[in-house]
Amino acid sequence: MALECLSAFPSFSFFIPSLAVIFLLIVIRIAVSTDFYKKFFAKLESNFSQATKGIFAPLKHKIFVDLSNRLKELEGDVLEIGIGAGENFHLYPEGTSLIAVDSNPHVEKLLTENLKKAGERVHLKKFVVASAEDMSCSSGKLGVEDNSIAAVVCTLVLCSLTDDQTTKTIREVKRVLMPGGRFYFLEHVAGEPWTLRYFTQHLLTRLLIFPTFLNGCCCNKETLTRIREAGFKTVQAEKQCIKGSSEAFLGSWDTVLLARSLLALINPVIAGFAEK
Ligand SMILES: C[S@@+](CC[C@H](N)C(=O)[O-])C[C@H]1O[C@@H](n2cnc3c(N)ncnc32)[C@H](O)[C@@H]1O
Repeated sequence: MALECLSAFPSFSFFIPSLAVIFLLIVIRIAVSTDFYKKFFAKLESNFSQATKGIFAPLKHKIFVDLSNRLKELEGDVLEIGIGAGENFHLYPEGTSLIAVDSNPHVEKLLTENLKKAGERVHLKKFVVASAEDMSCSSGKLGVEDNSIAAVVCTLVLCSLTDDQTTKTIREVKRVLMPGGRFYFLEHVAGEPWTLRYFTQHLLTRLLIFPTFLNGCCCNKETLTRIREAGFKTVQAEKQCIKGSSEAFLGSWDTVLLARSLLALINPVIAGFAEK
């Protein structure tokens, strides 16, 4: 009798697994909002940055060479948003005066360890746990004044922000930059429309699978459009698909496996600068 009832509802076998998946996603979303997860994620992101160091190195190198040259002409503090564990410290020119902001308080311990390794290269004036969406003096400890920063660095951060947060963050970057100051960025963005990559990126992001497991990261962002819309004097960027041979990845096998699997989805990558 029970089996007859079940067969009377052909969608039953679809309904229960769907409910289970939705329930699981809700549980995971609650779990990832906890402090424990943030701590875990600070470490995971640091390991990911280490694992992919060689992959992003050529693009990062280009933007930091430009930054070094620029700082010879325009003196002042550099602001890095979403600094994480300070994986970019080794790329700054000797004696850089840095202000750093990150929304995750648990990066501070890792950041301090990497700062020691950077030696005299970076003088960290201030690290503040805050969202880069509002860095104004009224927002709290960060308080960055208008036209006060020589350059802003932002690598692999805007993917974790909603479109609204991205627009606000870029507006803030433009506000704090001195005239002639440059906003250096490196971000992964959506693939070419109508490709398998593009559809997969949209599907995984819209079903909240990618952002749920990766701290809000979306793999279907149109970040270059957002930067171009912000009204900078010039925007110079290159877009490329980065590839990595197995030797290019560093670290433990599980992190390398994760990084290699994600590479297809976090491509292409844009890198360049926008000048105020
Ligand atoms: C993938 S990690 C990148 C770290 C580093 N920039 C790098 O290139 O290795 C992204 C970092 O951005 C931070 N972040 C995310 N949203 C942010 C926001 N709204 N304001 C400031 N930092 C944010 C995260 O906490 C995380 O440390």
